[in-house]
Amino acid sequence: MDFNFYLPKVNLLFGKGVSVKISEEIKKLGDQPARQGINGRALLVTGKTSMEQSGFTQKITSHLKNHLIEVTLFNKITPNPTSELVDEGAKVALKNNCNIIIGLGGGSAMDAAKAIAIVAGHSKDQFQPIWDFSQSQAAPKAITSQTLPIIAITSSSGTGSHVTRFSVITNPNLNHKVGIYSEYIFPKLSVVDLEILTYMPPALTAESGVDVLTHCLEGLVSKSCNPITEEMALQGIELVFNYLTDAFRNGENLKSREGMALADTYAGFVITTSRVILPHAMSHPISAFYPNISHGAALAALTPHIMQFNIEKGDNTTLQKYCLASGAMGRRTFGANKYEAMKSVEAVKELLEKIGMNKGLQELGVDPADIGDMVKNAIETGQGPINSNPAEVKESDIARIYKLAMGKDRR
Ligand code: NZQ
Ligand code: MN
Repeated sequence: MDFNFYLPKVNLLFGKGVSVKISEEIKKLGDQPARQGINGRALLVTGKTSMEQSGFTQKITSHLKNHLIEVTLFNKITPNPTSELVDEGAKVALKNNCNIIIGLGGGSAMDAAKAIAIVAGHSKDQFQPIWDFSQSQAAPKAITSQTLPIIAITSSSGTGSHVTRFSVITNPNLNHKVGIYSEYIFPKLSVVDLEILTYMPPALTAESGVDVLTHCLEGLVSKSCNPITEEMALQGIELVFNYLTDAFRNGENLKSREGMALADTYAGFVITTSRVILPHAMSHPISAFYPNISHGAALAALTPHIMQFNIEKGDNTTLQKYCLASGAMGRRTFGANKYEAMKSVEAVKELLEKIGMNKGLQELGVDPADIGDMVKNAIETGQGPINSNPAEVKESDIARIYKLAMGKDRR
């Protein structure tokens, strides 16, 4: 068996209340600022309301100030963050001479923080907009060690962004939502504070929980899966099936939040090493065309159909992996065949129903007339994930799956 398991240096703080320990790590980062008596100058990147309402923006700001770290707040990040917002945030970082970027929030705030760290780090002489670094460009600029150090504090479970080397940014002019990737945006410190996670409302718990599940399911069957990511993916799936429904119903139950946060973290490791596949390639055009549709909602509409496609068109190894997934979802399986593999699809549909995520694309607001453009967009922006899909994907398959996903998948 030959494989390469690559994971950038991980430094993870996990537990209740741990977000107010980050200053110790900042002091160790060794990127000393010019002025004496100051341990650093941080840009704190957040969304518009949730972190302020929950009190965490204030809590972390005063913690940093108490440890002689200057803080500039950039609290403008919207879901599906845009390249324009990233450039604006980077200008604020440059103006305030920030030497560390802290993302506090869901995937959107953490991804924006990562992208801001790229731009601010490479713009000392001349401003370099984020889209110049996007790998969807013919000749993207290289992302180097000039990238400012990043701390990612996750407020959802979720995207795994606290432990991935991706930043997903949308260019609204091109309608392109793409993952910008580099080992230099792997956070120097990843923080999972269970207390922050209890503030998630049920809808976000459900949407982001679906994201965790799909990262594990996609990484499991991806062409670049290896025995280590396979174990982490199966463990993540089991955790999601054990804890997501309860986290959705009883948001204050720390045990369920902890289970989902662990699953999210495994899932981040899985996708950093083994990548995502077709559902992610097809979900990004949906959020690019319809920014109000969450990443998780788009994935929920697509995933059962793509699982079935891969079970029908994939090889024997793929079939066996879906059978393992059925087992991790608590289903009894007898041997490895299509019937047993399809139990995983049934289990996913049941879970989606329980957490209110069994909605077709049309119900989410997608106009079927846009399918043609979304197919083109998926092919333009999603080549990496499409190539990692275990079954070969043709343009006509993508169109057919979008059509199937339009309707509610009634069981
Ligand atoms: O904006 P604020 O006011 O902070 O409110 C947010 C936002 O409205 C709110 N929220 C977040 N944490 C909360 C909370 N509300 C109450 N309590 C909390 N603890 O939830 C809303 C959605 O937040 P967002 O960050 O957009 O959600 P999520 O964490 O699901 O992130 C989704 C983004 O991450 C990208 C997605 O494409 C999408 O853009 N992804 C990033 C990945 C990565 N970097 O590795 C991989 C993923 O596959 C994904 O593509
Ligand atoms: Mn995702």
